[in-house]
Amino acid sequence: MTRLPIEGTPWAELEPELRAAGENDVAWRDGRSPAFVHFAGDDVLEVAKKAYLMYFSENGLGLRAFHSLARFESEVVAMGLGLLHGGEGSRGAMTTGGTESIFLAVKAARDHARAANRGGAGVPQIVLPYSAHPAFDKAAYFLGLETVRVPLAADFKANPAAMAAAITPSTVMVVGSAPAYPHGVMDPIAAIAAHAASAGVWMHVDACVGGYFAPFAQKLGREVEAFDFSVPGVRSISADLHKYGYAAKGASTLFFADPESFSHMAWKFDNWPRGQYMTNTLVGTRAGGAIASAWAVMNYLGEEGYLRITERVLATRQAIEDGVSRLGMHTLGRPELSIVAFGSERHDIGAVGQGLQKRGWLTGYVTDPPGIHLMLNLTHEPVVGRYLEDMAAAVAEAGSGPAAKLQAVY
Ligand SMILES: Cc1ncc(COP(=O)(O)O)c(C=O)c1O
Repeated sequence: MTRLPIEGTPWAELEPELRAAGENDVAWRDGRSPAFVHFAGDDVLEVAKKAYLMYFSENGLGLRAFHSLARFESEVVAMGLGLLHGGEGSRGAMTTGGTESIFLAVKAARDHARAANRGGAGVPQIVLPYSAHPAFDKAAYFLGLETVRVPLAADFKANPAAMAAAITPSTVMVVGSAPAYPHGVMDPIAAIAAHAASAGVWMHVDACVGGYFAPFAQKLGREVEAFDFSVPGVRSISADLHKYGYAAKGASTLFFADPESFSHMAWKFDNWPRGQYMTNTLVGTRAGGAIASAWAVMNYLGEEGYLRITERVLATRQAIEDGVSRLGMHTLGRPELSIVAFGSERHDIGAVGQGLQKRGWLTGYVTDPPGIHLMLNLTHEPVVGRYLEDMAAAVAEAGSGPAAKLQAVY
């Protein structure tokens, strides 16, 4: 069993050990990882790292001490709200990731319903599409709510009418994804929000993936479902900076349409001997580096930089869709952004995945229907040709006929 060493080890020995430990990790720089990393070029990475290190020791819990971080956070929030058509009264804060943003949105919706005496005596419920991220169920588990997952429409998007039918007096939140992670498709946010508004229920848009990607795809003239505060009825939006904001990990944003909704994000306490304690976040201490890095990358790239990267990621997705269809497989639904999943009626997709895995591509899957899943970034751009060649070989090896049910691990 490993124990804390009695004596310390010099950095000169630790550094090579750290490097060697990563040798068997997925070669993400070579585009071998289907998710987990969002690379936007070495220059962007350099900016993110340098800014992180400059504020490595500072703590986002102590904004009274670190005016720098307070300024960075408020400017990041303002930039995010600008992209997502926030209004005069819109507010927000940074969190450490998508899961925390969703957790806090659920907490805010629950507390808003409590304050408004909505929800009755039953367990408060969240109505969400089958494709929504598990973070909602995690939040519901911790916060004492229930989730009601509603089947999707045939195009893998949320089904607004079925969601409306699932709303009850206990519903405190309705969710749409922009896009949903499994198939990468945008839910019909306007239709869902209209039902939520007419029932007087909080509508949350999970734009953890699309929040810093979809606005640029829209500006590039792509057809992308409206999903932000321009849609009436949308009350909160989660948008991750450590995905397509290209910031260091540990950075997301949670936005609210108005100050009353935002007021439920915070938690306050003073029954202890150290005075009033108040945080907007679930966590206490926050990495100053993650806040500084988000600020630096947003300013480094600017709209023009994000547009350039977004265009390249969209072209990569198109090249994969084209290549996959040449091999007799098909894209699942109509993805509008950076995620693509594809399946096949002719080939055993599980066997195709294993063939790719054998050739060094860590393979991600969707299970329903069976398919292969990619969340794209610039590491994938130069290897599309190689990926498709290996896929052709994997398809040739794979048996025909539909895949057995896939047992996929995230
Ligand atoms: C749509 C969506 N929401 C939320 C999350 C959770 O984000 P995180 O892993 O940063 O907690 C993800 C992660 O992939 C996601 O795809």
